[in-house]
Amino acid sequence: MEKLKIRGGRRLVGEVHVSGAKNAALPILCASLLTAQDLKLSNVPDLADVRTMLRLLEGMGVKVERRGHEVTLNAGALTSTVAPYELVKTMRASILTLCPLAARFGSARVSLPGGCAIGARPVDQHIKGLRALGAKVEIDHGYVDAQASRLKGARIVTDMVTVTGTENLMMAAVLAEGRTVIENAAREPEVSDLAECLNAMGARISGAGTPTIVIDGVETLHGAEHRVIADRIEAGSYLCAAAATRGDVLVRGCVPHDLEAVTAKLAEMGAGLEQGGDWIRLSMSGRPHPVKIRTTPHPGFPTDMQAQFMAVAALADGASEITETIFENRFMHVPELARMGAKIRVNGNTAVVTGVETLEGADVMATDLRASASLVIAALAAQGESTVDRLYHLDRGYERMEEKLRVLGADVERVRG
Ligand code: EPZ
Repeated sequence: MEKLKIRGGRRLVGEVHVSGAKNAALPILCASLLTAQDLKLSNVPDLADVRTMLRLLEGMGVKVERRGHEVTLNAGALTSTVAPYELVKTMRASILTLCPLAARFGSARVSLPGGCAIGARPVDQHIKGLRALGAKVEIDHGYVDAQASRLKGARIVTDMVTVTGTENLMMAAVLAEGRTVIENAAREPEVSDLAECLNAMGARISGAGTPTIVIDGVETLHGAEHRVIADRIEAGSYLCAAAATRGDVLVRGCVPHDLEAVTAKLAEMGAGLEQGGDWIRLSMSGRPHPVKIRTTPHPGFPTDMQAQFMAVAALADGASEITETIFENRFMHVPELARMGAKIRVNGNTAVVTGVETLEGADVMATDLRASASLVIAALAAQGESTVDRLYHLDRGYERMEEKLRVLGADVERVRG
């Protein structure tokens, strides 16, 4: 088991480059199933989840060529429309193969992802929407089995805002007969990036980024080239690390507009912020001020930044209130932060964080992707040495984090535990 060993208490200073967005790359890789021609992608992050998705697609017969951050996929000679449990159980986003397979091949058999550490994470909205488009969908021995001759456009209203649900249904609708309207659609930038890629492939999608997405189905989609957008959560994570260590960091290659809710909260905490077309600079001199945070769908405060902010709030000169409204169990970083001296009281889906002057280094254990980022941020700020164990959680969503942190002056190394 690999660990990060971090000697904290050093200010982060310098410039860090953001990789492509994991949560845009994953649905876009699945979009390759919708055409027999090449989908050429750039700025694809080199992450464990991306490698898992590529393995899953290759298992279906998709030809994959990867050179660094460039990936070319071709689903012209598919051999299987099954996404097996052994791969799906390691990455829930595998469910994003369901609708492209049903749309182009009329058949899909995708293992139910099952829950994960942060919650039950059902996929009932994906299934409800696909049925509305005319597919016959059964749950059979832990698999979602979808059969459809040709999907027919429909008006779909999801019961709650769902990011991958919106993405899956968009990919079902692009080849359906007629018009589909998705109401209550997710507005995350990653949804818009998928829509942009699909339109480059010949789809006819409008309204992505708003609560109402309209898709006019076409007969076939062709190949395309697409550059994956920057990862706003990675960018926000480095901004939080800069704030927690009272540093001065410029995050390069991000989209400031996508981070407005995050930078607004960092400003409330006393951070100095400047930004340009593709960069944000954060400097922090004293202790952060306390803040009140409530996670909501985009453009509100992102749930994927909640754990990172808790690490910053742990050092604030007052009490912060953090409410998690998206997932039912996304406070698993709390007991680990407490091992470093954080004072946090959880009451239902709200955590009250009473800031302390300093945190102490400790041996802690990652439990999920964003919790691991939170622990790294706390360890960077803490006095003394920490180890963060179970790094496979971190490697799912952060490319070469220890290298990027060392460039910023952190004393961090990856060790075999
Ligand atoms: C996406 O997950 C992201 N993953 C998550 O990022 C992110 O936390 C989440 O959206 C919310 O922003 C990817 O994009 C690959 P949801 P997703 O469907 O789509 C409930 C990370 O750290 N729901 O928007 O699975 C669900 O239980 C990951 O990068 C249903 O009940 O999330 C949750 O409470 C973690 N039924 C809420 O909706 C459904 O059919 C929002 O979930 C679908 C969702």
